[in-house]
Amino acid sequence: MSRIEPRPSSAFAEQLQAQLLAWYERHARRLPWRAPAGVRPDPWRVLVSEVMLQQTTAATVAARFDDFLARFPTPAAMAAAGEEAVLQAWSGLGYYRRARALHACARVLVAEHGGRVPADAAALSALPGLGPYTAAAVAAIAFDRPCVPVDGNVARVLVRLFALDWPLPSSLPRLRQLAATLAPSTRAGDFAQALMELGALVCRPRTPACCDCPLTGLCRAQREGRAAALPRRDPRRVRPRRRVTAWLAHTPAGLVLLRRRPPRGLLAGLVDLPSGPFRPEEPPAAPPLPARWRRLPGVVRHAFTHLELELVVELAVADVPVAPAAAPPDEGCFWWPLARLEALPLSSLGRRLLDHAGLLPSPGRQASAR
Ligand code: ADE
Repeated sequence: MSRIEPRPSSAFAEQLQAQLLAWYERHARRLPWRAPAGVRPDPWRVLVSEVMLQQTTAATVAARFDDFLARFPTPAAMAAAGEEAVLQAWSGLGYYRRARALHACARVLVAEHGGRVPADAAALSALPGLGPYTAAAVAAIAFDRPCVPVDGNVARVLVRLFALDWPLPSSLPRLRQLAATLAPSTRAGDFAQALMELGALVCRPRTPACCDCPLTGLCRAQREGRAAALPRRDPRRVRPRRRVTAWLAHTPAGLVLLRRRPPRGLLAGLVDLPSGPFRPEEPPAAPPLPARWRRLPGVVRHAFTHLELELVVELAVADVPVAPAAAPPDEGCFWWPLARLEALPLSSLGRRLLDHAGLLPSPGRQASAR
């Protein structure tokens, strides 16, 4: 069923803003990247926080934020550092592509914006690593520009508020247009964070707490009793599935044979285990060492956007670290202490393979790269 695009009246938007901002004043979490009420936040802190929060939970970011900002307090400080230093400081936050983009962004800020974060959403969205969501979030939170950033939490709030059957994520562009009509002319930063906060704390994915919601009386899905049934999701794509062997060699002294992936392609520049090719068009690979390989029971499944892998793990214990023989030359293999994995940009796949073999020193303690 398709609906006529909602056109909220200005009276509706004003009531929404008033009810939501009053709720936010009482319920906002104290988070390290948020400035106290009435204080203008440092735009660089806001930008870094929004990049970190793209794929990492608020709790994980909160635990790491101050240390990271102490290391890179300004765009100039980050631009002067090497990419490895940024990746290293990022370690444990996962999705390392964001760290590389943030480093590139800092260099653009220094080269083209006098070392400052621009205020305008269009200029922001031209920076490396900043999509429409992050650009709108920084413009609103750091500069009070009348923008409404739409991430997953905000999208859920909006489709419920208007009881929209629009499937996500394909309807995000339409939803952004609708969101823009709700932007307040003052306190846009608080309004943006209030929407995010409502999505995180009340308008939760499976169990919306409608009885605690400040938007009672405005929310159409709540009125119709179908908040929990929204949002609708796009049908899942069927991805080709491929079986791949991964080789896990380790020594009794706690070294493990890892592989750094080439700078382009799947998991570019990240570290995982030597394995067969992920794509059928790549040449087959042999074990990286002559050893007594033993197949572990079970498989590790890992989904990329266009591909699903089913990995079987071959395990070998080498008494001494033997020089890797059969690794393709562009995918450098190296021995590394298991106790120092946090110093590497280890892919989530690599982490899961090590976990499958029971070799992770503290399973699940850190987020991973992808
Ligand atoms: N998620 C994304 N941005 C956020 C913010 N500024 N506060 C809390 N959660 C967020």
